[in-house]
Amino acid sequence: MAGYRVAVVGATGAVGREILKTLAERNFPVSEVVALASPRSTGQEISFGEKQVLKVKNLETFDFTGWDIGLFSPGASVSAIYAPKAAAAGCLVIDNTSHFRMEHDVPLVVPEVNPQALQRIRRGIVANPNCSTIQMVVALKPLHDRFKIKRVVVATYQSVSGAGKDGMDELWAQSRAMYVNDPIKAQEFTKQIAFNCIPHIDKFLEDGSTKEEWKMVVETKKILDGDIAVAATCVRVPVFIGHSEAITVEFHNPVTAAEARQVLRDAPGVVVQDTRDDGGYTTPIDCVGEDATYVSRIRKDPTVEHGLQFWCVSDNLRKGAALNAVQIAETVVAQGLLKRAA
Ligand SMILES: NC(=O)c1ccc[n+]([C@@H]2O[C@H](COP(=O)([O-])OP(=O)(O)OC[C@H]3O[C@@H](n4cnc5c(N)ncnc54)[C@H](OP(=O)(O)O)[C@@H]3O)[C@@H](O)[C@H]2O)c1
Repeated sequence: MAGYRVAVVGATGAVGREILKTLAERNFPVSEVVALASPRSTGQEISFGEKQVLKVKNLETFDFTGWDIGLFSPGASVSAIYAPKAAAAGCLVIDNTSHFRMEHDVPLVVPEVNPQALQRIRRGIVANPNCSTIQMVVALKPLHDRFKIKRVVVATYQSVSGAGKDGMDELWAQSRAMYVNDPIKAQEFTKQIAFNCIPHIDKFLEDGSTKEEWKMVVETKKILDGDIAVAATCVRVPVFIGHSEAITVEFHNPVTAAEARQVLRDAPGVVVQDTRDDGGYTTPIDCVGEDATYVSRIRKDPTVEHGLQFWCVSDNLRKGAALNAVQIAETVVAQGLLKRAA
């Protein structure tokens, strides 16, 4: 089978680089790959797989005609302009930004959870959910199928790579500054992130929640079930890669920790590590570069009739972004939904 012509938009960023890596590692059938970014990066070299070096091209002047798939992560305001242009040229856009996620005619997809939504691609655009939502719904879906979820309360511990390469640079620079007694500069984050936690991701909304928290609520409903009540608190922590979540779930039906553990062990994309001894759980450092969503610390919530609590960790750049986007592309190809542009 001949491969597809794939454009990676935002290729110089934290997610874009991981997309290139994931495409190569999973041997996605490509005949050609182009790396696109802002004019700042035009001409910069970037590797694809073991052997190829791509010269970054300027998104502003790029013509998507003849390109089959566009994997976009250039930021919401840039996707807002260029994703529809690419789609109009016949290129299927899989967009990592928040811009299209809640539009009713744009599927919001996690392949382990709602691949059927890909049957309704109306505008040539598929949205990749928020990184914190993805890992949570991967873990919730098998539990919902078996025990029917009523309510979810989640607190996140989100790594700085969720704020892109500038976020990672800021944690590095501030950590270094602490040791050599330099002044601490906070630009990307609202307070010092090194050796600290910040309960504020994305902008504040009128009701006092943040947009990141709102995304977890509305995206979970769109992907999994509109009847599930969700309350979220999203916190940035000084971890480079890997988001963690403390999740409390109330069910309609009876559930035990042992039953939930077995359901999760059998679920696609989930790895259970839960041995109730020192280190018998997954931490963000353990999940870097891994594909799975890890679940640990599964136990009963004794404060409600049918409740569970657990800990959930995943690599936000992989399952939270690049891997999920590439899995969408793989599913679209496997379901025969992609018309080749050229
Ligand atoms: N990081 C995560 O865990 C994660 C997870 C899910 C979704 N996302 C979303 O994915 C998007 C990118 O995130 P990131 O973490 O990769 O950010 P990043 O590291 O800051 O990278 C941003 C990328 O977008 C490019 N870009 C910026 N402005 C552009 C423009 N005007 N035209 C063309 N390209 C432009 C940048 O190119 P230059 O290098 O040329 O500036 C760079 O390649 C964001 O919308 C984010 O919300 C991120």
